Amino acid sequence: MTFEGKVALVAGASRGIGAETARAFARAGAAVVLGARDEKALGAVAGEIRAEGGRAVAVRTDVGDAASSEALVRRALEEFGRLDAAFNNATDGPLPAPLAEIDPEEFDRGIRTNVRGTFLGMRFQIPAMLRTGGGAIVNMASVAGVQATAGLAAYVAGKAGIIGLTKVAALDYADRGVRVNVVAPGPILTHHLEAAGEEARRLAGLATPMRRTGRPHEVADAVLWLCSEGSSFVTGAVIPIDGGQYAGNKPPRMYRQGHSMEPGAA
Ligand SMILES: NC(=O)c1ccc[n+]([C@@H]2O[C@H](COP(=O)([O-])OP(=O)(O)OC[C@H]3O[C@@H](n4cnc5c(N)ncnc54)[C@H](OP(=O)(O)O)[C@@H]3O)[C@@H](O)[C@H]2O)c1
Repeated sequence: MTFEGKVALVAGASRGIGAETARAFARAGAAVVLGARDEKALGAVAGEIRAEGGRAVAVRTDVGDAASSEALVRRALEEFGRLDAAFNNATDGPLPAPLAEIDPEEFDRGIRTNVRGTFLGMRFQIPAMLRTGGGAIVNMASVAGVQATAGLAAYVAGKAGIIGLTKVAALDYADRGVRVNVVAPGPILTHHLEAAGEEARRLAGLATPMRRTGRPHEVADAVLWLCSEGSSFVTGAVIPIDGGQYAGNKPPRMYRQGHSMEPGAA
C-alpha cells in the first residue's frame, strides 16, 4: 500500500492507536495532519514522524467543536493542498459505572466526543475530499458498539452512534467517490491497559478467542487498507479487529456431558 502524494488526517492522534496510525500513514508516504487536545503529546508524534523523514503537522483540535474541526481540515488543505484519507479516532467519556450512577454531564461528554465529533469530522472532511474527486474515511467504533458491554452506557451508545453515522455517510456519498467505513476493535494494548496492569491485560486477552490483546499496528493496518485502493468496492462496512470476539463465545474450557470438570476428576 502506498500513499505517496496523498494527504491523511487523523483526529485523536496524540497517543495510542491514533498516533500509531498517523505513523503508519507517514511511513506509507502520506503527508499527515494530526489533531487532538494535548498539544505537547501531539507535537511529539508529529516531530517523530518528521525526524523519520515524513511530512506532518500538528493542530490542536477539539473534535466536538465545529470551528475547531473545520480548522483541522482547512489546515490540511492550506498545508498540503488536498485531503484523501481521514481517520476519526477520538474518544472521551465517563469511567465505567452502572448506568444509574453515571453523571448526566459525563454522559454528554462521551456523546459529544464520539457522536458529535465523528459527525463534525465527516461534515468538513467530505467537502474537502469532493474537491479532488473523492477519498476514504474510517471511523473508530469498538466491539462495544456492536455488542453492549456492562458499565459503559455512554461509550456503547456513542460507538453504536458512530456505526449508524458511518452507514448514512457511506450511503450518501457511495456514488460520489467518498467511501466511509468503521472499525470495531476488541481489547488493544494501549496506555489504558498498560496502566491497568498485568492482571487487566491477562483478563482482556482471555476475553478474546485468540487469547491475546491486539496491538495498535494491527488496527492501523486495517485503517490503511480501508483508505487504500485495495478496498475500492468497500463502503459502509463494520470491520471487527478483535481476535474473533464478535464471532461468538469461546469459553476458556468447555464441559462435556458426562465428564466432570471438578479438580481431580478423570
Ligand atoms: N484500546 C482499546 O482497547 C480500544 C478498543 C476498541 C476501541 N478503541 C478506540 O480506539 C480509539 C483510541 O483509543 P486508544 O486506546 O488508542 O487511546 P485513547 O487515549 O482513548 O485515544 C483517544 C484519543 O482521542 C483524543 N481525544 C479525546 N477527546 C478529544 C477531543 N475532544 N478532541 C480531539 N481529540 C480528542 C485523545 O487525545 P487528547 O486527550 O490529546 O485530546 C487521544 O489521542 C478510541 O476511539 C477508543 O474508543 C480502543
